[in-house]
Formats: sequence, C-alpha cells, structure tokens
Amino acid sequence: MCGIIGVVSKNNQITETVISSLKRLEYRGYDSSGIAIEENGNILVVKDKGSVDHVLGGIDTTKTSGHIGIGHTRWATHGIPSKINAHPHTDCTGRIAVAHNGIIENFLELRKHLEEKGHRLVSQTDTEVIPHLIEELNNEGMTVEHAFKEALRRCKGSYGVVMIAQDSLHEMICARRESPIVIGVGKNETYCASDITAFLPYTNKVIFLRDGEMAILRPDNVLIERIEDSTVVPQRISTITWNPQMAQKSGFPHFMLKEIHEQPYALRNTLRISNNLIEPFARRINDAGKVILTAAGTSNHASIIGKYMFTHIAQLYCQSVISSEFADIGLNTISDKDVVVAVSQSGETADTLDATKRAKEKGAGILSITNVVGSSITRVSDNVICTQAGPEIGVAATKTFIVQVATLSLLSLELAKLRGTLDYSEIQSMKRSLLDTPRQIESVVKTQEATAIRIAEKYYSKPSFLFLGRGISTATAMEGALKLKEISYTHAEGYPAGESKHGPISLVEPGFPVVFIAPPDETYERLIGNIMEMKAREASIISVCGQADEKIEKLSDDFIEIPGNIPAEFSPIPYVVPLQLFAYYTAVKRGYDPDKPRNLAKSVTVK
Ligand code: AGP
Repeated sequence: MCGIIGVVSKNNQITETVISSLKRLEYRGYDSSGIAIEENGNILVVKDKGSVDHVLGGIDTTKTSGHIGIGHTRWATHGIPSKINAHPHTDCTGRIAVAHNGIIENFLELRKHLEEKGHRLVSQTDTEVIPHLIEELNNEGMTVEHAFKEALRRCKGSYGVVMIAQDSLHEMICARRESPIVIGVGKNETYCASDITAFLPYTNKVIFLRDGEMAILRPDNVLIERIEDSTVVPQRISTITWNPQMAQKSGFPHFMLKEIHEQPYALRNTLRISNNLIEPFARRINDAGKVILTAAGTSNHASIIGKYMFTHIAQLYCQSVISSEFADIGLNTISDKDVVVAVSQSGETADTLDATKRAKEKGAGILSITNVVGSSITRVSDNVICTQAGPEIGVAATKTFIVQVATLSLLSLELAKLRGTLDYSEIQSMKRSLLDTPRQIESVVKTQEATAIRIAEKYYSKPSFLFLGRGISTATAMEGALKLKEISYTHAEGYPAGESKHGPISLVEPGFPVVFIAPPDETYERLIGNIMEMKAREASIISVCGQADEKIEKLSDDFIEIPGNIPAEFSPIPYVVPLQLFAYYTAVKRGYDPDKPRNLAKSVTVK
C-alpha cells in the first residue's frame, strides 16, 4: 500500500502542496519517496530511499515554479527500497512520469516486450513498465491520453496510478483498478490521491474514482471516463466531514477496523504473488531433510496452519516451533540438509531473528515470509516471499495474518504439485476456492459484522473465555483468543476442543462463554460432541459455523455464519474474521483503544 498524490493548479507554487500532501500519506508507506514536478516546461524528478523529509526536505519550494506535479511514498512490494526503485518512474526520455499503488501482475512479460522494442528499464519494480508502455504507444501515434488508457488495458493486476506528460502539462491523468484513487476538487486546483488525507486541508469536495475509471484533471475541470469503452461518466461530488485523523483511517474509528475491512484487498494482492517466487521457495522446502516453521504470536498461529496445510495437502511432514522456544527444542537436531521457514510480518521480531541465526549457524537453509521488503529477516534468508498487505498500523495483526495464511496456502498447493499428492484438476479446484476467499471475506464482513457487534455487547463483561477448535481450526481458535486477550485485556485460551476435557473444562460453569470454530470439515461430528460436553455444563455456546448449519445453530446461544464452501485447509481465512471483529468490538465496548493495547509493541525487537 503506497501513497500517491497529484496536483494541477492555476497557480505555479504547487511543489509545497505536493510535498506536504505526501507527508500526510506517509502512514501508507515510508521506505522511499519522490516527486515529479513541472519546471519551465520540463519534468523534474527528485526521489530516493527514505522518508519524505529525508528525500524532499531540502527542496526550497519558494524557488520552484511548477503548476503541476505528482508524488509518491512507497511501501515496497517489488524491488528493495532504493533510489532506483523509488517512484515516480519515467519513460526513456523523462517526458512521462508515473506514480503507482498496486501490483502489475504481468509486468515481466510487458518488460520483456518493451526491452525487445529497445526500451531501457532500470528498476526492479513492476511500475516502471507503465511509463515505457505509454511512451511506446505514444511513439506509435496515439495521443498521451489514449496511450495511457491503452497501456492500462494491457496491464493485469491492481493500480491506483497518476501520470503527467511533458507534451500535455496542462492536465494530469489518473485511473484505478482495486487500489483507491480519490479526486479533490478545489477552487484553483484539482488533486488526486490514494486517500482524502492528502488534500483534506485544501478541499473537502471529493470524487471517489471507481474501478475501471480514469480521470483527466485540469485546474478547473474533471473529466471521468470508463477505460474499457471511453464512455464519459457523470461527476459524483461528495462533501467530506472527516477531520484529518479520521481521513487517515478512511473514516473508520481505528486502524484495526480499517485493516480488518482491507483484508479482501490485501488478500487479492497477495494471491497475485508470482509463481516465479512461489515455485523455488516450495522446491527448497520439498528438497529439504527436515522442515521447521518458526514464528511468534499471531505469526506462530499462521505457521501452525501452514504445518497443517503442508501435511494435509502435500503430505509433507514438518514441525512448527515458537521462535522463543527454538533454541531449546530440536535445534541440536538441525543440519545443513534442513530448512527453517520464518514467518514474521515485521521481519524484525528478535525471537524469530534469533531462531534463524541459530539455524543458519547449523547450515540450515533459511526461508522467510514477511510483509516488509528489506526487513532484517530478508537479509538473513536464502528465499523471501513478501506478502502484500501494505503497512499494518494497528498493533494487533489482522490483515498480515490473513496474507500469511494465503501465502502458505499457495506454497502448499505448489508442494502438492511437486510431490504429486494432488492431480492438476484437484489443484485447480483448490486454487479457485483460494482465489474466492477475498469475496468470501467481503461477504462475511458485510453480513456478519452486526452480529459480531451484538455478541460483543452481550459478552463483553465476561472475565474469561475458551476458544475451541479441532484440526486446523485449533490454530484459528488460538488466534481468536489472542486477539481478544491483547486488545480487550480479557483472559482467553485457544485450545484443541478434544483436549478441553483433560483440564480446561473445569473452568466451565453456567454462563461461561465458549467460542467454537466449527467449519463443516472432517472434525465436525467430533466437535459437536465437544459442544454437547460444554452445554451439559451450561456454558454459553458461541459458534462460528457454516451458513445455515442448523445442527450447530440449535446447540448455540449465539452464532456467526460463514457463507459459501471452502476446503477445510483454507477455512482459517474466512473463519478468523468474525473473531477479529468480536475482539475489536469487545475492546471498544470495554473502553480501550484497539490500535494501541497496553504493554504491547507492533514489533517485539527484544528477546
Ligand atoms: C499479534 O496480534 C501480536 N501483535 C504479536 O503476537 C505478533 O504477531 C508477534 O509479535 C509476531 O510479530 P511478527 O509477525 O512481526 O514477527
């Protein structure tokens, strides 16, 4: 998730506006930044690795005279944070500049085509193909506007993109597909940005661009078209009443709720990870002696799910070890034939870094799954997969958990292919189910959020909860318990349901809340037995179950339904969402700030 801004004005002092707008977008990404500003009819680009202040703070904006410009603050997805990978990117001549947020899935084939045409692309990014594609089409006779449109038609994937061109500096053009673009309509200026935060101090008159639309922006005019067929779209100006803080959260009261709602977007982008990254990573796992997944906290729950998927889908035995326990459990059995898969959204967790360091000293291969390009974990890894959740501001992991599970799902399907444990049609069928999970989460949030709020209001004062599941749902239950614990300070234990009769059931008395994760999978009938055990002790049964599951619903005091069918191995992706919402609304009901829970840090860099 990056931040982009574009300004076109009747005045010629927009450099300051572009830079200050960019600063307000830094929460969306901050590993590199840059601007492209019109100066005396030319396009001047200033960009580098580092924050906006670091890269642009030295510009004396009073000495600039541009009336149009764009800017970008980056959260790296392809290519490490560096000057050459920073946006804006330009074509061969420097006459076209582009800032982009999203993922161009087919950038490798586009890049190959452009290089065969003689274009020189210098970065590692997917974005850089866009200005060169526009240049190529413009050289073939298209106007810049038509070249922009056609270039985007050839791009697969997601974009929120803005372009300025030296041949038409009276206007800038932006477009969106999945990645947000909002237009600000000022008196003498027009803006486009990733979100309203950027230009809210200048105007609260906004147009939310929709998927498949592009806009041609002049200082006093906005023309919106559909990219597909160039039909003009009537303007839809809204007046925003948010303050700047609310704008950063897109109107949500907390980043955590915004990030829960962002999960379909983060998931779609992660499921676009190229197989050029998945395949070699899976091959390293497949060729290894022992495979150990290691992580902390929520990432440990993702690792447990990964272990389950590797075992069930690819019939590959592996272990999952909490990273702070790694040195004490089995390190001495590790050799140079083994691999350790480290899962860490921040890539900075000291326990997990320590585990990889110790494994590396024993000669093991180090693979990592992280959400931060260039983080410490990537520098000690032989292979890295970067999830595409964008920065996660809330301390409690939500979207980064979902994308970790999605990445492990992709790896498990690739391992199944390598090991022949599933045939082509079975893999394709499971892949289709996986690709449908963003839509499923959208449906869960849309139809079940109100129920999660009601259940939170009913049970928020309870001092203790059990979260129970079987098979893969045990890890989902553990994650639900962690979410509730860490932001509402309510005691909660995630436990294997079959194990609860060996101890935890002694906690249960009339009205004690027990949350069951109950997808219709192979463990279903045994889970029903566990629910009966708890009901016999008059526990309050709260279930997360399949849609219209009358059997579970009849046994439950409250329930949340998950629509659609999904293979058990992927069920944590939609089934965790109600637990995230329940934890969030419980915390809010108890009067706490879910974004900043006491005693916790977003990244635990101490052992
Ligand atoms: C998750 O909600 C917590 N904030 C915490 O447990 C976190 O998952 C853990 O510290 C691991 O962080 P990492 O993924 O950045 O390594």
